[in-house]
Amino acid sequence: MNVTPKLVIGNWKMNGLREASLQLATAVAEGARSLPDDVRMVICPPFTQLDRVAEALEGAGASVMLGAQDCHTAVSGAHTGDISAEMLADTGARYVLLGHSERRQAHGENDALIRQKVQAAEAAGLIPVVCIGETMAERQDGRAATVLASQIDGSLTDNFNGVLAYEPVWAIGSGVTPSREELERTLLLLRGLLQSRLKMDDIRVPILYGGSVTPAQAPTILSIGVLGGVLVGSASLEARSFLRIAEAASLRLSSQPLSGPYRS
Ligand code: 13P
Repeated sequence: MNVTPKLVIGNWKMNGLREASLQLATAVAEGARSLPDDVRMVICPPFTQLDRVAEALEGAGASVMLGAQDCHTAVSGAHTGDISAEMLADTGARYVLLGHSERRQAHGENDALIRQKVQAAEAAGLIPVVCIGETMAERQDGRAATVLASQIDGSLTDNFNGVLAYEPVWAIGSGVTPSREELERTLLLLRGLLQSRLKMDDIRVPILYGGSVTPAQAPTILSIGVLGGVLVGSASLEARSFLRIAEAASLRLSSQPLSGPYRS
């Protein structure tokens, strides 16, 4: 049976000095060797550690790939402090996170800008991982679906072929995750929104979940068969916990029964 590999992406955020980065990436690459090929890991270190992590991942092949946390819309030029998608590809990066809520909030990034970044990433041959998610206030006001719809409409390109990461802002770093049922409902909603945005019934865009994913939570979250994987923050800063999450993503390793609307 041919299964689409689950993606387990680690977002190191603004963490990682030279030695610690090398050790962590090396330990992940080492541990990933014993993972079945139905899981693919991605490490997104800060820009300063991309080269170093790329070296540590040499030989890991597709089992652990390199990603970055942001890119500029332009290819090059007078943009002090920015990094282009082409520069990321040049380090060996294959993925780039775009529109993370921390960038939307702290850097005022809006959907139109994120869409331009997606275009830049696609032009450089990178796979964009577009992050969307509602805040607690939007959730409490019953506006989550509207917010997610406008983020999908505004930040994806017409022929988007990357990855969508659903990261409810209230779940990030809080230790709180949506219930399995709630997440299943949201995934169904997101699939429908993608179908109408991309004008396609057969959506191939993997949908990941992110927000307080830990080794303890991962088996329940990843037992939702249609989930394309997870985007992990703090638990990706420790090789053992990140690898345990990857193990939970493997259908071949986990004996979790599938249930609900995604049973096939
Ligand atoms: P935590 O896993 O630390 O909640 O972070 C999630 C996240 O923001 C990943 O991009």
